[in-house]
Amino acid sequence: MTDRYAVIGNPISHSKSPLIHRMFAEQAGQDISYEAIEAPMEGFAATIERLLTDGYKGCNVTVPFKLEAWKLANEHTSRSIDAEATNTLSFKDGKIYADNTDGTGLVRDIEINHGFKLKGKSILLIGAGGAAQGVLHPLLEASQAPPVIYNRTLEKAIKLQKTVTEHGNFSHFSVKAAEFGALTNEQFNIVINATSTGLTGGEIPLPASIFAPDALAYDMMYGRETPFMTFARAHGAQVADGLGMLVEQAAEAFYIWRGVRPDTEPVFKALRP
Ligand code: ATR
Repeated sequence: MTDRYAVIGNPISHSKSPLIHRMFAEQAGQDISYEAIEAPMEGFAATIERLLTDGYKGCNVTVPFKLEAWKLANEHTSRSIDAEATNTLSFKDGKIYADNTDGTGLVRDIEINHGFKLKGKSILLIGAGGAAQGVLHPLLEASQAPPVIYNRTLEKAIKLQKTVTEHGNFSHFSVKAAEFGALTNEQFNIVINATSTGLTGGEIPLPASIFAPDALAYDMMYGRETPFMTFARAHGAQVADGLGMLVEQAAEAFYIWRGVRPDTEPVFKALRP
């Protein structure tokens, strides 16, 4: 019997996940199916219920259901607890297991695909919403250096900062929270845009001098050149979008489900030849 998987979101028609997982499955010689399912805004739990009844083995979860999915799950990995969200559910014996592969995906993309080692690097994380929280702890783990969280709304940056300072494993890091406009002379090795401004518009005020020599500017958005990327390019940074993170978080999910780590390079090349 073919093992069934899916990605659930709203909207979902744009998702590249079915294509990515089909390529992984072909490469690994695994008999799985993977489809995109649009859950109604009020119908996420019912959709999961249907998947359980129909014998699916797991699913990915994307916007706007990552928090709801996390709350619905019976068991949680520490990665998903840190993120307070899940993008990868596994179904076993009627139970729902939540993990989160977004942060691992980002770190692997930065370190392996872009060859940019994070250890000891200064990081500016822009944004304090779900996307930022999903990657903050894995970034800390890899860099072993406290990032600055930079957000339009200071209270949300402070709330995210507290998830680190009040964390058993990370409380020794003195993470800083700063509101837009508060940065002047600081420079960073990596500047990561985890806001939704690439989609919705909106300014990210950054001094032109924010990028250290050889800095990497990473936008977690993919599929378009964002104003953040244009700004970073104009000020000498190496620029990356989130396509690699998308492929790497998918590979990590595939590994959780199938116990096989796919080679992401051919998939990345197929998506962006
Ligand atoms: P996501 O899951 O994509 O992170 P979210 O939780 O709504 O979505 O968070 C969106 C992030 O983008 C937040 O950091 C938000 O800043 P605020 O905390 O101030 O709301 C940021 N953001 C969204 N629109 C923005 C805009 N027009 N200008 C600046 N920041 C914006």
